[in-house]
Amino acid sequence: MSLAQRINRIQPSATLEMTALANSMKAQGIDVIGLAAGEPDFDTQDHVKEAAIAALRQGFTKYTPVGGTNDLKEAICEKFQRENGVSYKPAEVTVSCGAKHSLYNLFQVLFEAGDEVLIPSPYWTSYPDMIVLTDAKPVIVSSTMESGYKINPEILKRHITPKTKALILNSPSNPTGVAYSPKEIKDLVQTAMDHNLTIISDEIYEHITFEGFQQQCVAALGEEVKKRTLTVNGPSKTYAMTGWRIGYLAGSAEIVSAVTKLQGQSTSNPTSIAQKATVAALKGPQDEIRRRCQEFERRRNVVVEKLRTMPGVSVVKPDGTFYAFPRFDGAFGKRYGDKVINSSGDLATYLLKEAQVVTVPGDAFGDDRALRLSFATSMEIIEEGLKRIGTELQKLS
Ligand SMILES: Cc1ncc(COP(=O)(O)O)c(C=O)c1O
Repeated sequence: MSLAQRINRIQPSATLEMTALANSMKAQGIDVIGLAAGEPDFDTQDHVKEAAIAALRQGFTKYTPVGGTNDLKEAICEKFQRENGVSYKPAEVTVSCGAKHSLYNLFQVLFEAGDEVLIPSPYWTSYPDMIVLTDAKPVIVSSTMESGYKINPEILKRHITPKTKALILNSPSNPTGVAYSPKEIKDLVQTAMDHNLTIISDEIYEHITFEGFQQQCVAALGEEVKKRTLTVNGPSKTYAMTGWRIGYLAGSAEIVSAVTKLQGQSTSNPTSIAQKATVAALKGPQDEIRRRCQEFERRRNVVVEKLRTMPGVSVVKPDGTFYAFPRFDGAFGKRYGDKVINSSGDLATYLLKEAQVVTVPGDAFGDDRALRLSFATSMEIIEEGLKRIGTELQKLS
């Protein structure tokens, strides 16, 4: 039986593949250090779990409205008002099975053959493939490590054509951890507005920031910007709820309703009890987020400090997230046995085989000289992983 062409046009998710590999090596009893995970190592908080248990006991186990319950939409609107100063109505919000699903649905509803979509690089690995699935063209807007992995209006303008339909922003960024300042965001958004682009702002890491950094919510930049912006967010990273599969989208009621229509012919509603749990997360105490960020910040400091002692390795200090995206220029062209390191995949494989350290090759994020290291794991594992990486790099000749 033959497969449809579209499935051959996309790659498997590199992050999920490397995480699965780490788990299977662990299950075989191999002493693996996993630095690939894209999720907080903390548990979902008890009051959130209790809300799901109560929902189960109350028989809240049936279909809900396709785009989420009113309770949850109202909790999301309250969140936008309280945290971002943006006023959305429930009709401008739709809830899906994870932020990934919100983005997928949104792209399906907005893009088609002939459209171009701007993606600043390094980028979250799923954006280009999701855009390819709509038949639109992902246009990569490259930044350099020297510019702190940030693009600017000049660079952006060079990639805008009459076919450009949208710009995707993701600050703080997966994989670099770099976040745009309010002024930088404003300038990029102004450029997008000047060219009548739709702005898709993936704000899933907005709360995982360091040294008091406050992420600017794009839609909060004014009514005109809000009209052109679709904000994507969800509880996965902020509340350590990756497995619950809830994400949401806020923007024009017309687009939101189109997304809900698509969802009504595919997955229908996200899980009923996960919706109740998300209401509890959004409305409950918020102080744990700060405490967890402080722990991520402590780990970030160790990761950056240790990487910077390694010859031939450079890294931009992350402003947020739980990732670092070091470049390993010194390792390229070097040998081990009869093999030469020529790509991020070669390097990740070398580290996996020789040091049992799992990382994600940078080419999945648009930089083939980098690896993504996750510090969403204990300090002990981070220190051991970095020690092993340092030792293996020295063995290259
Ligand atoms: C930038 C970015 N956007 C969206 C997502 C998807 O999150 P969710 O688990 O809610 O689908 C992720 C998850 O890794 C991410 O890193």
